[in-house]
Amino acid sequence: MKNITIAIDGHSSTGKSTMAKQLAKALGYIYVDTGAMYRAVTLFALQKGYIGPNVDKLDLLIPDLPLIHLEFRQNDALGYSEIFLNKVNVENKIRTLEVSRFVSQVSVIKEVRHKLVILQKEMGVKKGLVMDGRDIGTVVFPDAELKIFMTATPEIRATRRYKELLDRGADISFEEVLENVQQRDYLDSNREFSPLRKADDAVVLDNSTMSPEQQFQKAMSLAEDRINTP
Ligand code: DC
Repeated sequence: MKNITIAIDGHSSTGKSTMAKQLAKALGYIYVDTGAMYRAVTLFALQKGYIGPNVDKLDLLIPDLPLIHLEFRQNDALGYSEIFLNKVNVENKIRTLEVSRFVSQVSVIKEVRHKLVILQKEMGVKKGLVMDGRDIGTVVFPDAELKIFMTATPEIRATRRYKELLDRGADISFEEVLENVQQRDYLDSNREFSPLRKADDAVVLDNSTMSPEQQFQKAMSLAEDRINTP
């Protein structure tokens, strides 16, 4: 069976990673969450005090980029890989609202994108991979055999994210989450380098009214179609 590259892009909290993980599992492919990579660099900047409430010393991050080592390690108990920042598992730490608040500022930095895109391209040389993010179908793998662009209304996405954060014990209001979702949409779509946009040949999946099962079936049939195309 032919191995293909599957690029999944779209707005934040559209369930990209859930669907990408399901697809990777069903096809026996590697899954790479590129948002986790931008989040881990943001966590590094927070830990170093280069960014924070009323702090913006992000210019100091650029000379430090060679000190950032990122790696995905498979967790067999969970069935997917987790991200390690300089050998430390930061999978939980990168999912906080604090990281979400600052990640757009870090992901606009040209040098950060350059470093992460090189790593992402290296991960995909052998194909057989599902990668999700914002610029996968446009910049990282413009030749991917299957590109999916996921979207849903901001309110629906904020509701999903709010539930997720409450499950993690966060003390937060729905309005704060909605504001974060809308702000990230704006920043992701309007940044100078690699803004979020649908690749011309991407299939749009609006899951506002789709169940996770329906969306998975749709993506799976698209993948099978591309795999079986000679
Ligand atoms: O998918 P996510 O919400 O975990 O991504 C976190 C942030 O990282 C998001 O606001 C935009 C940025 N990002 C990016 O700029 N390019 C990518 N390929 C993936 C994520």
